[in-house]
Amino acid sequence: MTTELSADVTPMRIVAVANQKGGVGKTTVTMQLAAALSRRYQVLVVDVDRQRSTVWWAENMRDRLPFDFTGEQNPKSLTRMRDLHIQYDFVLVDTPGSLEDTSILETVLDAADYAVVPLTPEPLAVESSMRTISCLIEPRQLRYAVLLNRIDPRIPSQLRTWQDLLDTTWGVPRFDAYLRQYKAQSDAPVLGELATTLGDNRRTAGTIADVTRIGHEMSEQFTPALNGWW
Ligand SMILES: Nc1ncnc2c1ncn2[C@@H]1O[C@H](COP(=O)(O)OP(=O)(O)O)[C@@H](O)[C@H]1O
Ligand SMILES: [Mg+2]
Repeated sequence: MTTELSADVTPMRIVAVANQKGGVGKTTVTMQLAAALSRRYQVLVVDVDRQRSTVWWAENMRDRLPFDFTGEQNPKSLTRMRDLHIQYDFVLVDTPGSLEDTSILETVLDAADYAVVPLTPEPLAVESSMRTISCLIEPRQLRYAVLLNRIDPRIPSQLRTWQDLLDTTWGVPRFDAYLRQYKAQSDAPVLGELATTLGDNRRTAGTIADVTRIGHEMSEQFTPALNGWW
């Protein structure tokens, strides 16, 4: 029997990383969250974005990619995957950010169990992010949470300000975890690195800690009993 808390078999979870605003960190979050989860779970990353950013990143990793990867996918294949009972614990889907690709995003959200919505602390990112939530995610009654990204470690009040805006002004669910802005994060695709492959040093420690925390929190949402296993 498959149960949520079984240590050996977890049902496949399709997680869409979605925001119609470009540049908020969808590709970064997809790849780094997949890396964190791959420490404990079978993970597949699916790229349905024509920009192929994850494809390029995955190619730069060569044989060091810690999860399975499939690029240039037709979003309809997600529904088929479930029908075929292909066994992954988590399928993470990197989605396009442009409004022209809304139908691709909608197909992904139809198949998804959960949406992660990366958001950068920029006033101009807010409107289209909230529109993605209210027009595409909430009408599907899809579980979701906003993930703050590119928090500036040198501005102490920024995190609290944006967490308050999400909690109080906009009233949307969010991760407690967040990603700070680090060069190790923006260099990772070109260097072919992920938080799980980086050597731990003064330059990389923040990125590794942030990504690990996000993996824990995601895992916790689905399989709380497994959290002690990391
Ligand atoms: N936490 C971060 N720290 C530093 N740079 C980041 C961070 N998150 C994203 N970036 C950089 O910002 C740019 C946009 O991120 P990306 O993940 O490609 O966004 P999207 O997929 O939503 O368009 C990329 O150059 C990426 O490396
Ligand atoms: Mg992208």
